[in-house]
Amino acid sequence: MTSANKSTQEESLPVIVIGAGLAGLTVALELAESRQVIVMAKRGLSESATAWAQGGIVGVLDEKDSVDAHVKDTVEAGAGLVVESTARFIAERSADAIAWLVEQGVPFTTDPAGPKGLHLTREGGHSHRRIAHAADATGKAIHEVLLDKAKAHPNIRILENWIALDLITNKHLQNASKYKTNRCYGAYALDIENNHVETIAARAVVLATGGLGKVYRYTSNPDTATGDGIAMAWRAGCRIGNMEFIQFHPTCLYHPQEKSFLISEAVRGEGGLLKRPDGTRFMDEYDPRAELAPRDIVARAIDAEMKRHGLDCVYLDISHQPADFIRSHFPTIYERCRQLGIDITQEPIPVVPAAHYTCGGVVIDQHGRTDLAGLYAAGEVTCSGLHGANRLASNSLLECLVYARAATDDIIRNPQPTQDALPSWDESRVT
Ligand code: SIN
Repeated sequence: MTSANKSTQEESLPVIVIGAGLAGLTVALELAESRQVIVMAKRGLSESATAWAQGGIVGVLDEKDSVDAHVKDTVEAGAGLVVESTARFIAERSADAIAWLVEQGVPFTTDPAGPKGLHLTREGGHSHRRIAHAADATGKAIHEVLLDKAKAHPNIRILENWIALDLITNKHLQNASKYKTNRCYGAYALDIENNHVETIAARAVVLATGGLGKVYRYTSNPDTATGDGIAMAWRAGCRIGNMEFIQFHPTCLYHPQEKSFLISEAVRGEGGLLKRPDGTRFMDEYDPRAELAPRDIVARAIDAEMKRHGLDCVYLDISHQPADFIRSHFPTIYERCRQLGIDITQEPIPVVPAAHYTCGGVVIDQHGRTDLAGLYAAGEVTCSGLHGANRLASNSLLECLVYARAATDDIIRNPQPTQDALPSWDESRVT
């Protein structure tokens, strides 16, 4: 094969992005300027943890704030296990990440007096107001904008209801010995509608499959959060790290008709108080930062209170704030609670901790590269070193964006070697 042929083949292969949340869509949109991209979603496109994210995304934008302060808060929240260079890498890119989202058209909540004209809210563990948000449905606002762009892009093909089953690596090749490096050549994916497994060759594969919160009964995660990306990477020989650190969000709504509805940390950031059923507060008995302590501390305090007093739940009370303020800052939470018969402008919200975030995952470097050549990962599926034992609130959307863009740069910079035809999925012995 001439080198011209080789490069034509290389260019014509798509990049496969598995997952259609913020990490996946960012990779797709950034790559689509120069590459063909396939984005795979195993269910409907709105079933993504990104679309469910309420609070917001960290932006070190205020002149009183600093990268150092954000790094310090991240390291402290992570209980000694954060890789500080990763926290700095991400913090340094937050202003740029928010600018990119604004450029895409994300309708963040504005404040004419705020930095860059944005309203910044506060969440547990943060020493400054630094959370850019779109009221209380930030993930949905981001997801809708990026999804519309991806759907309209001629170089992006979105496969809905397709499940990636396995990554194709050297072990699948008949003539594997001729290749020096173990690498990822593509993926086997089940087209659910047609009940057919397709072999898709790719110049690179990006895992953006999210976490595994759905292995818990009580979780803030969508049903799709089943850890498949982590499992595929593990089977392909990649290192997986910090899987013992599952983060529990302190305040999920406690209601028989609603198992997975989050009451955003921003409610505490804007003055919400945690109370026992008799109306007494308890957080200052656990941490001097009280309701604004990092979420592992708050979740453990609630758990301890529930066990100590035999409670089914505790209460989050923001009803002392003006009703207009509550309705305009938290329209989604206000409306969902109202539908369930709770008027949050008048009464406290029953809440319990629930599984929320997978702090560990597939080990990546600062280019989003996994241990397997040609396989990248970004977002909750990864262990980048940012979260340590406990993620700081609103660092997750930022991490998705920063590593999606890092992976994109690396894919563009490093052409992949050519490859022979890939074997079809082996269906023998499968019922
Ligand atoms: C929330 O709104 O409380 C969730 C934000 C996050 O998980 O970072």
